[in-house]
Amino acid sequence: MKIAVVGTGYVGLVTGTCLSEIGHTVTCIDIDQNKINKMREGISPIYEPGLDELMKKNIMENRLFFTTDHNEGFDNKDVIYIAVGTPEKEDGSANLSFVEQVAIDIATHIKKDVIVVTKSTVPVGTNDWIKEVILNNLVNDVKVEIVSNPEFLREGSAIYDSFNGDRIVVGAENEETADIIEEINKPFGIPVFKTDIRSAEMIKYAANAFLATKISFINEISNICEKVGANVEDVANGMGQDNRIGSQFLNAGIGYGGSCFPKDTKALVQIAGNVDYEFELLKGVIRVNQKQQEVLLRKLEQKFDNLKGRKVAVLGLAFKPNTDDMREAASIVITQYLVEKGANVVAYDPVAMENAKQILDSKVVYAASTIDALKEADVVLILTEWNEFKDLDLETFVKYMKQPVIFDGRNCFEPNNVKKHHVEYHSMGRPSIN
Ligand code: UGA
Repeated sequence: MKIAVVGTGYVGLVTGTCLSEIGHTVTCIDIDQNKINKMREGISPIYEPGLDELMKKNIMENRLFFTTDHNEGFDNKDVIYIAVGTPEKEDGSANLSFVEQVAIDIATHIKKDVIVVTKSTVPVGTNDWIKEVILNNLVNDVKVEIVSNPEFLREGSAIYDSFNGDRIVVGAENEETADIIEEINKPFGIPVFKTDIRSAEMIKYAANAFLATKISFINEISNICEKVGANVEDVANGMGQDNRIGSQFLNAGIGYGGSCFPKDTKALVQIAGNVDYEFELLKGVIRVNQKQQEVLLRKLEQKFDNLKGRKVAVLGLAFKPNTDDMREAASIVITQYLVEKGANVVAYDPVAMENAKQILDSKVVYAASTIDALKEADVVLILTEWNEFKDLDLETFVKYMKQPVIFDGRNCFEPNNVKKHHVEYHSMGRPSIN
């Protein structure tokens, strides 16, 4: 198949690269010439393990192309994927102006029948609207079919997920179109779930909202565990062994961040609100998440009534490990608080520091390594569970810090192991160790 992918953000680039890897000829289109030039050399603008290698391989094998030119990009394509951003508007709803522009570009450039597949996360009903926009702007007499094919990739493991996902959701107007999209995806070897367009659009929001609910649920259980002297990890394990519950996404911590859960949960509340339905449960999920970072800060306040002039080491800035993405990261709120309290914040993250510099308070200092950050620190906060931190020998804290006081927002260490070392250790939903 000849495929075009519009938008080379995280979803578009991964989708385009993986579709080329399974044998399709793919042209990725973006408006940013600098980005396109880099990608032509196999350099990805985002940090995603394995992506550069896969891009280079498929560029070399003449299956993966990049262009800013719509004429060239849309020429002779059977299928066009829309993968542009749908950023959050101030009221929590999705901004569809990029999607609209792509729909107009498609309408004015296509010269043969095409299937337009929406990968971007869009509110229910948007695909019908996209079809309308395309039909209203069509220049040539061609047929257009619309498909909703939401994305379930996780940042940091997107390549793995592309080849090992649980299902591919295809929402189409008719069976014939759904079959073509199923055929395109066949080499991935992942089951295809076919449904109507609106249900497919809803599945994406419902799935993300449910995962966010699991996280906020376990975080509240974690807060209660702390008060009743239980261990949330054991509670989550014991719960998760029930197949009806499942063990994934029950890691307590300082809440979810990233470009998806915060945005999609708010958008779903908005979608419900638009049809006069108050999604009370999801509103609670969002509130709990916003409060969860404060749980760590309140514990810190209990230990230090004054942070002024203290050196606070912060390990981990990205919203989760294996990404340089800082969007809605817990580190934003937490470092801001520390700076306001007059602490000397010295932060380290294996890959997100360049992005962090654009976002965090200018008073935050960046260390060259974990040890650099820990040197002479009064306290350390662990905000992202990078393996590099989880693998640390606890003696490192004893050796380099002024006093080895650890506030672990991501439960990186086993309490039984911690007990063997002379450190003060506070984690989430588990008894503190002094
Ligand atoms: C999420 C979904 O997992 C993907 O299926 C979906 O495709 C994607 O959003 C999207 O809509 O594009 P992602 O945002 O990359 O993927 O990251 P996750 O691995 O889901 O983690 C999200 C946040 O939840 C992170 O801040 C993570 O630290 C937190 N989390 C996750 C927890 O606090 N506890 C857990 O048990 C799991």
